[in-house]
Amino acid sequence: MLISREQVQEILQPIQDSETGKSLIALQRIRDIVVKESTVRLSVTYSSEEQRVLLEGQIRELLQAIGAEDIHIRMRPLENSVEEDSYDREKLTKGHAAGMQNNEILSEGSGVHFVAIASGKGGVGKSTVTVNLAAALARQGKKVGLIDADIYGFSVPDMMGIEEGPNVTDDGVIIPVERFGVKVMSMGFFIRENSPVVWRGPMLGKMLRQFFEDVGWGELDYMLLDLPPGTGDVALDVHQMIPQSKEIIVTTPHATAAFVAARAGAMAIQTEHEILGVVENMAYYSCSHCGEKDYVFGRGGGGMLAETLHTELLGQLPLGGPDNLAADPDFSPSVYKAGTESAMIYDEIAAKISSKFESPASR
Ligand SMILES: Nc1ncnc2c1ncn2[C@@H]1O[C@H](COP(=O)(O)OP(=O)(O)O)[C@@H](O)[C@H]1O
Ligand SMILES: [Mg+2]
Repeated sequence: MLISREQVQEILQPIQDSETGKSLIALQRIRDIVVKESTVRLSVTYSSEEQRVLLEGQIRELLQAIGAEDIHIRMRPLENSVEEDSYDREKLTKGHAAGMQNNEILSEGSGVHFVAIASGKGGVGKSTVTVNLAAALARQGKKVGLIDADIYGFSVPDMMGIEEGPNVTDDGVIIPVERFGVKVMSMGFFIRENSPVVWRGPMLGKMLRQFFEDVGWGELDYMLLDLPPGTGDVALDVHQMIPQSKEIIVTTPHATAAFVAARAGAMAIQTEHEILGVVENMAYYSCSHCGEKDYVFGRGGGGMLAETLHTELLGQLPLGGPDNLAADPDFSPSVYKAGTESAMIYDEIAAKISSKFESPASR
């Protein structure tokens, strides 16, 4: 039996907020209604535990009465609903309506190699490593996706010099923005300017899941994830959401930094994510005149960390941003141009990574 979205709205219209007597539909406390044949999905905010149980039962009963067979109700506490308004829900839910066929990217058989980039703390260059590694893999002809999973501190669009947002197709699939051959998705695309980002746990998971499920990634060889920094709940959530991903840990050369990064490594091990290796960023300053390396931030952190984690040091990146002009169409604040010293180091790291995934020995 086919159900329409209007039918769902109509049947749920009489459900009222017990305090104000207003329709929950009108209050937008029942929303994000998506109907596909006899499957109905919607989300509801509740103000008390009692109400939660009551509402869920009521909605289920009403929907079953119009023939819904598969009912998915997302229940959220009311306090979260205001915060959600800080993102462009319309754009995302439009994607939700039609994008469900894309979730095979997370399935075992998708053939996509997931690589999560983690660090013990922020500011060590995790995002810089992610965007450059993605660009390097793309230079090697790989089909690469990048998810900026650092939901609070999203920076990937800016770092790659992306100015436009993603398009949504007529049938509602969100098309990632492509830059330097990398398909990019970031929360930054959906945050209204200057609005504060205060996600709570459940929202975060929902957003990320949508990045996998509602985005038209097309065919991919690699999916890189810029993880939230540190080893807090957010990082843990993301780890658990992508059990199949392998990890790269980024550190600076200082011994203390490496010690902090070791915690990120320990988390990867605890959550059973294989560590591909360590990248040491800001490893040295390379003198432009004599080529001499000056180890301004100390030495050995990356190697030490690799040893602690029983993995290898994949590469060491020098200090210095890309040599770029804002007028250049290929301008980006953080992506090094092919052929430069840093880009070539990323090329080597990318080659090591693809050989780990693609060499017969690793299978
Ligand atoms: N090798 C490097 N040399 C100079 N600056 C760097 C280098 N790597 C990163 N940075 C800069 O350091 C800052 C933090 O880097 P970022 O990648 O945002 O770190 P994280 O994602 O770990 O917080 C940024 O301003 C970035 O441009
Ligand atoms: Mg970052």
